[in-house]
Amino acid sequence: EKGGFNSFMEKEIHDQPSAVHDTLLGRLDETGQLTLDELRIDESLLRSVDKIVVIACGTAAYAGHVARYAIEHWCRIPTEVELAHEFRYRDPIVNEKTLVVALSQSGETMDTLMAIRHAREQGAKVIAICNTNGSSIPRESDANLYTHAGPEIAVASTKAFLAQITAAYLLGLYLAQLRGNMYADEIGEVLRELQAMPEKIQTVIDGADAIKAMGTGMGETESVLFLGRHVGFPVALEGALKLKEIAYIHAEGFAAGELKHGPIALIEPGQKVFVIAPSPRGRNSLHSKVVSNIQEIRARGAETIVIAEEGDEAVEAYANHVIRVPQSPTLLQPLLSTVPLQIFACAMAEAKGYDVDQPRNLAKSVTVE
Ligand code: M6R
Repeated sequence: EKGGFNSFMEKEIHDQPSAVHDTLLGRLDETGQLTLDELRIDESLLRSVDKIVVIACGTAAYAGHVARYAIEHWCRIPTEVELAHEFRYRDPIVNEKTLVVALSQSGETMDTLMAIRHAREQGAKVIAICNTNGSSIPRESDANLYTHAGPEIAVASTKAFLAQITAAYLLGLYLAQLRGNMYADEIGEVLRELQAMPEKIQTVIDGADAIKAMGTGMGETESVLFLGRHVGFPVALEGALKLKEIAYIHAEGFAAGELKHGPIALIEPGQKVFVIAPSPRGRNSLHSKVVSNIQEIRARGAETIVIAEEGDEAVEAYANHVIRVPQSPTLLQPLLSTVPLQIFACAMAEAKGYDVDQPRNLAKSVTVE
């Protein structure tokens, strides 16, 4: 049941530390090596792969976008992410050297299933990352890596998203281990960081009241924008999707760098904009670029809500509100920065009196094309 929460969605947001923890569980041996024996796929095949295509829909596709940054960085394998319903109809280039990774919480999404069939007909091998044992997608795939998020009831996906990112990262690290792209200690370092995430996610959840108050206070808001760069970009898209789905308002996610190419024209006084700030400790100029983006929209009157790492002082000057998340390497930050966006959407939808778990026009699994 709902475990004392107002909705399944709220409960599932709170389940996220254990969803990530359980997805990591049992996948390391005593020496700290990744052992994904359950994959039962020919290792030589994984060594010869020259392209990865991630297929999924909705939130699962955003998890795929996040994973792409990590997989390309760690494995140096060209990786594409495509909506399953688009993939199938464009005569995609896939063959025996293509590894298709299908992401699906339910395992019953027809669009994704049809894309899997198409890929396999072309000779590609498919690994499914799925949350539902024995569902159609894992049954029709060559290999499976289950997420262990537990059943997700609310139509708006939350804990499955974090678990999908976690599982896709394990797969990326496994490929890097197998193909010799990373040293064992580098892989070990990322795994240690991943294992620290459940506690950090809990810290974000412990701060839920302030975020909820913000969501409740914005009950009259008609449009919210979300900006991010790098892995923060798919997080922005996910934040916008949550609001559309359950609060029924116009919400859009942008790559922050794209602002000046058009969307900045939307900014008028009072426009609410969430910005996901990357870690200032990263070794590139990502953080300062995002700070200037915040400055640009603030100068045009936007009300800025910035999700930033603990200790990131640079955002203070341009943020109307700052939501803090614990420090983490940039690639892992989506596991933290998504959580406030989920809490916000849930609170806003509740404030508007909507059924958070069963939004209009939507079904939990989309079993038609
Ligand atoms: O079960 P799946 O992960 O395959 O579902 C994919 C999408 O239908 C799903 O993520 C949908 O976008 C959610 N309602 C998002 O909250």
